[in-house]
Amino acid sequence: MTQDRPRVSLTGIKPTGDPHLGNYIGAIRPALELTANYESIYFIADYHALTSIRDREKFAAYTRSVAATWITLGLDPERTVFYKQSDIPEIFELAWILSCVTGKGLMNRAHAYKAARDRNAENGVADLDAGVNMGLFNYPVLMAVDILIMGSDVVPVGQDQIQHVEYAADIAGSFNHLFGSTYSLKIPEAIIPTGVNARTMPGTDGRKMSKSYGNTIPLFAPPSRLRKLVRGIVSDSTPVEEPKDPDSSAAFQIYENFASPEAVKDMRVRLEQGGTGWGELKNALFETLDTWLTPLRDRYEELVAPGSELDTILAAGAEKARDRARPVLAGARRAIGVDL
Ligand code: TRP
Repeated sequence: MTQDRPRVSLTGIKPTGDPHLGNYIGAIRPALELTANYESIYFIADYHALTSIRDREKFAAYTRSVAATWITLGLDPERTVFYKQSDIPEIFELAWILSCVTGKGLMNRAHAYKAARDRNAENGVADLDAGVNMGLFNYPVLMAVDILIMGSDVVPVGQDQIQHVEYAADIAGSFNHLFGSTYSLKIPEAIIPTGVNARTMPGTDGRKMSKSYGNTIPLFAPPSRLRKLVRGIVSDSTPVEEPKDPDSSAAFQIYENFASPEAVKDMRVRLEQGGTGWGELKNALFETLDTWLTPLRDRYEELVAPGSELDTILAAGAEKARDRARPVLAGARRAIGVDL
């Protein structure tokens, strides 16, 4: 088969909190690296966040903060398509069409929905659907539309999102089975980019860095806060002069992700020999992070500010995205006969 067009990769980002160092290493950097090999599409899945966020200020702030973060960290809106899901009305029309070809049973088996029911069962709540809104239940359909409406070939995701991409392929299959003689949707495939899940980065308490553990180091915290968080990373009480095991240390594992290979090697040797304390390691970690982040912090602050260039970038991105979405929606409308 000849391939004259680059394959399309689509990344969706759910804005549920301020991005942290773990997000950068585990998701943002690997996703940005794909720009080299794919026609890359990135979008903020703001309506997906609405299944859980009820605070309008937070909803707006997270979306802006996530968008500004990705641009600050190297997403090039000229070379990619970058937009906000809520700016693409075609998505929500196709979501209805595809929900009509999706079995309810498929949704019953979705991991996130099942987990919500399991939690109710564990807590002795009789109605297993208590606290479950229809947005949470329909989440996989909307996500399938995000993927299908852009004609995605591949969707880079972590392990936890693979089922969602399989659902998108299933739903496209159902549509094609019913209407494929008039119009068919491209069947997508999940890929796990190198680096994702390869190694989980610890947070300040030594467990995986995650918003749900409250152990994160935010990317754009001011230097004083960053220093405080780094100083607060757990460490054992081995005295300065004793040899230490670098691999047992959360601070060292974070350092490994951000310092140069030479600096990491040097630090490893010094810790193993003894004479270097955890405090010194943490100072080096803070300096490394702060040097990297100082220029980025300024750029980020500029972009998150209301009325910044971010608005223009997202508006232009929405135009590009709608140009892609329109023909897919038109094809689906033709196929089901709504326009006849
Ligand atoms: N469900 C994804 C997450 O929780 C976010 C998302 C929404 C997404 N739509 C998508 C990811 C489409 C990839 C493709 O992270």
